[in-house]
Amino acid sequence: MDFQGRTTVVTGAANGIGAALSRRFHAAGANVVLADRDQAPLERVTQELNDIRPQSALAVVADIGTQAGNIALIDTARARFGFIDLFYANAGIGGGTDLESTDEAMWEATFNINLNAHRWAAKHLLGEWLAEGRGYFCSTASAAGLLSQIGSAPYSVTKHGAVAFAEWLSITYGDRGLRVSCLCPQGVNTNLLNPPTTDAGGTIAPNAGDVVKFAGVVLEPADVADFVYQAIVEERFLILPHPEVAIYEQRKAADRDRWLAGMRKLQARVFGSL
Ligand SMILES: NC(=O)c1ccc[n+]([C@@H]2O[C@H](COP(=O)([O-])OP(=O)(O)OC[C@H]3O[C@@H](n4cnc5c(N)ncnc54)[C@H](O)[C@@H]3O)[C@@H](O)[C@H]2O)c1
Repeated sequence: MDFQGRTTVVTGAANGIGAALSRRFHAAGANVVLADRDQAPLERVTQELNDIRPQSALAVVADIGTQAGNIALIDTARARFGFIDLFYANAGIGGGTDLESTDEAMWEATFNINLNAHRWAAKHLLGEWLAEGRGYFCSTASAAGLLSQIGSAPYSVTKHGAVAFAEWLSITYGDRGLRVSCLCPQGVNTNLLNPPTTDAGGTIAPNAGDVVKFAGVVLEPADVADFVYQAIVEERFLILPHPEVAIYEQRKAADRDRWLAGMRKLQARVFGSL
């Protein structure tokens, strides 16, 4: 894909990886529709892009954890820039821990934002994309979607779902012109990886982000965005800015019991015996 003069939509664009992706696509000549529910930083990043190239970026305050929010975002983007060449479903949340302490609302929010948002967006985009015989859907899942997320069941489950959905889209519509990519990073230096380390009572508690930081190198969002940009230019499906994730996935497939034992060992080292 060539970004020059194209229209891209990025969700979760106010912060972290989404802000970096928006800047990268814009630097390559694309118009960018930036969507987020966090209005102040969203408008700051959008202003920054419009200062570089007037009228090239649009901020849309949206809750993409609802079907209506995705539809409104896509309709607004089309009304402003016309055909959407690339829709990038990046917004995501962490949080939630295990089966006992995680309430229904957290599971529901995580499913809606990390997974359902992708299918709601795709559903509203596919008609036009299939009619044109072209379109690009990219999502940010996680290495947790290929492996697992120690410390968060909702995150593990929904990120696996996001990878599966992206694969399904590619299989189903790849021969009709749809391109699909899926980003599966380990640690990236963002708010999501660095939540407050104390709970309501002031107790310092290890969290899922601590495991990710312990497990490997933490990349900067701008470096991840460069890597994603190149993968999309080359139209590669799986985007692994941490290449070791491919090796971990091979080990998991080769001997599942051994891989599970290794994950338990890692968990015990970071969390202590649960
Ligand atoms: N940081 C990491 O280590 C890491 C690793 C693997 C995958 N990811 C994934 O990368 C993606 C981006 O996360 P990040 O690390 O940049 O974190 P981040 O918290 O900096 O950015 C996430 C953005 O999504 C937005 N968002 C969340 N829910 C939303 C909603 N309902 N509607 C609209 N916007 C919403 C937030 O406001 C925020 O701006 C997520 O999908 C995350 O799961 C992150």
